[in-house]
Amino acid sequence: MTDSSSVDLSKDAAARAAVALVENGMKLGLGTGSTAKVFVDRLAERVHAEGMDLRCASTSKATADQARSLGLVVEELDDLGWLDLTIDGADEVDPDLNLIKGGGAAHLREKIVATASDRMVVIADQGKVVDCLGKFKLPVEVIPFGWQSTRVHIERALAELGLEGRPVILRERDGQPVRTDENNFILDLALEEIHDAKSLANALSAIAGVVEHGFFLNICNLAIIGRPDGSVVEL
Ligand code: 5RP
Repeated sequence: MTDSSSVDLSKDAAARAAVALVENGMKLGLGTGSTAKVFVDRLAERVHAEGMDLRCASTSKATADQARSLGLVVEELDDLGWLDLTIDGADEVDPDLNLIKGGGAAHLREKIVATASDRMVVIADQGKVVDCLGKFKLPVEVIPFGWQSTRVHIERALAELGLEGRPVILRERDGQPVRTDENNFILDLALEEIHDAKSLANALSAIAGVVEHGFFLNICNLAIIGRPDGSVVEL
């Protein structure tokens, strides 16, 4: 089954398993996206049922608004300092727990929060598990100033890595560039398959105008993959 209801059941299973990892008194990073949204719903249920005392940092305005509306305590990351645990979704997860993130244009804050945490746990449905990263277009957050020059540099970097001609697409909605929470643009790189993600990540990070790419390499500690029957598998 791969219809939307089976995906919803899978997300719920993964979210519930992740909620079980949360301990009273934790400082917790909250991810962004539809799976993270289910996690925040389930987390709030447990916090209220058990009277838990948590302090949360959010990876987006959307998640912060959701969490606060459910009565969770959301503070600035810098007021919390180091976090115990971050729970977030992903667009792709490979067998080594390397990820592509940023489908929701939040990967910059997501990476800052995840790397300020003792542990990052990804929650996802089976459709996100891949043998090789790259089918999902790699999001790259860029500064709007001179973004077309930045795109040329990205295309050159791709060519140097044998990926010439791969489309680099400005993400738009209603004919306008999508803006991140930091007011930047997103370029989506149609890689198809990337076998040396580390080299591409390094090349992208070296380009002026690139703020952050959506590769999460050696950041995730555990992936909880939900199934429609309510069970989960861990990677
Ligand atoms: C947002 C993200 C999300 O975690 C990712 O896009 C997965 O979202 P969803 O759970 O809706 O599939 O990286 O920037």
